[in-house]
Amino acid sequence: MTTTQALPPVQQFQGEPVPPISVPERLLLGPGPSNSHPSVLQAISLQPVGHLDPFYVDLMGEVQSLLRYVWQTSNRLTLPMSGTGSAAMEATIANIVEPGDSFLVGVNGYFGNRLVDMASRYKADVHTIKASWGEAFTLQEIESALIKHKPKILALVHAETSTGVCQPMDEIGSLCRKHDCLLLLDTVTSLGGVPLLIDEWKVDLAYSCSQKGLSCPPGLGPFTMNKRAEDKLNKRIGKVPNWYLDVSLLNQYWGSDRIYHHTAPVNMNFGMREALRLIAEEGLSNSWQRHRNNAELLWKGLENLGLELHVKSELRLPTLTTVKIPEGIDGKAFSLHLLNNYGVEIGGGLGDLAGKVWRIGLMGYNSNKENVNKVLDLFDSELKKFKN
Ligand SMILES: Cc1ncc(COP(=O)(O)O)c(C=O)c1O
Repeated sequence: MTTTQALPPVQQFQGEPVPPISVPERLLLGPGPSNSHPSVLQAISLQPVGHLDPFYVDLMGEVQSLLRYVWQTSNRLTLPMSGTGSAAMEATIANIVEPGDSFLVGVNGYFGNRLVDMASRYKADVHTIKASWGEAFTLQEIESALIKHKPKILALVHAETSTGVCQPMDEIGSLCRKHDCLLLLDTVTSLGGVPLLIDEWKVDLAYSCSQKGLSCPPGLGPFTMNKRAEDKLNKRIGKVPNWYLDVSLLNQYWGSDRIYHHTAPVNMNFGMREALRLIAEEGLSNSWQRHRNNAELLWKGLENLGLELHVKSELRLPTLTTVKIPEGIDGKAFSLHLLNNYGVEIGGGLGDLAGKVWRIGLMGYNSNKENVNKVLDLFDSELKKFKN
């Protein structure tokens, strides 16, 4: 016999009926996210499996090996954090910083400031070395700051998405070793699209994101740390003050034990596997070269249209170009016009560069000649409508 138990009364939904989702078609040529590769989207749309399923456990190993490849590292502790780039950024800091540690940040854009904010929340003794938004740091500037502040950690942004600058990395890792300091690198806008050699450059910790050079949707934050960083982690006096991002706990899941830590976003990792597989299939150096070639086409095309680029050519980032907004033009109105009328997204300036530049991203799947021509044609035909 079945008993029918009365259900509690519910408040009726008050709003208009919500239709099934329909996403407008967009070409994402801003600072990220970038469009995802169709086969990545297909992988994500598969039915989930259990996060301890033997199939998934094998897939985790594949994702880790492929991540090591795109980062050019043999670091054991290499895994995608469940969260965006900021979660992986916070993971590097939460695991490595102990209260009072001298922590030096190179601030030449918006994300340097985010590192300062995060490190201070973990009670680091934070120092900064500053460069203008559009410049990089010289070795001399870095060495003077290492001597002055004697940091335990130096944090730099390899690819500053707010300015379009690529920080030259030659010799910085060796300087850090000489001054007994760990090197932490933000590679959110470089991974997959810009030459990046974690081991050769002696980078001790790095993080990235899924939604730019890897052609995945946002949601995962690749993380890597080497033995030097692990040693500092193992010598901590207190626990890592963030349970979710504690690498020693996470490694029980991502390492050989495969012990439950949290329910992994399995579908995002299906997508990550596919995205990384595609880079391996293309070849990492081919991917870097493709990004370079398309960026150069864009730079030449913009200059031919009489536009000025914000960053000098030797420091320019192939994945993200900053273009000066010409005098008298409402930059925001122009980008809204492109979005509303052509479905093309370009970014505006952030922080010090707000209202001064547009940011054009050519990342991962979106770095191709067709997209370069499309954005150049739009600048050519539409910008004149915004001139007084
Ligand atoms: C250089 C840099 N660092 C960190 C982040 C933060 O990543 P997320 O927005 O995925 O949390 C971004 C985001 O664009 C970035 O460009």
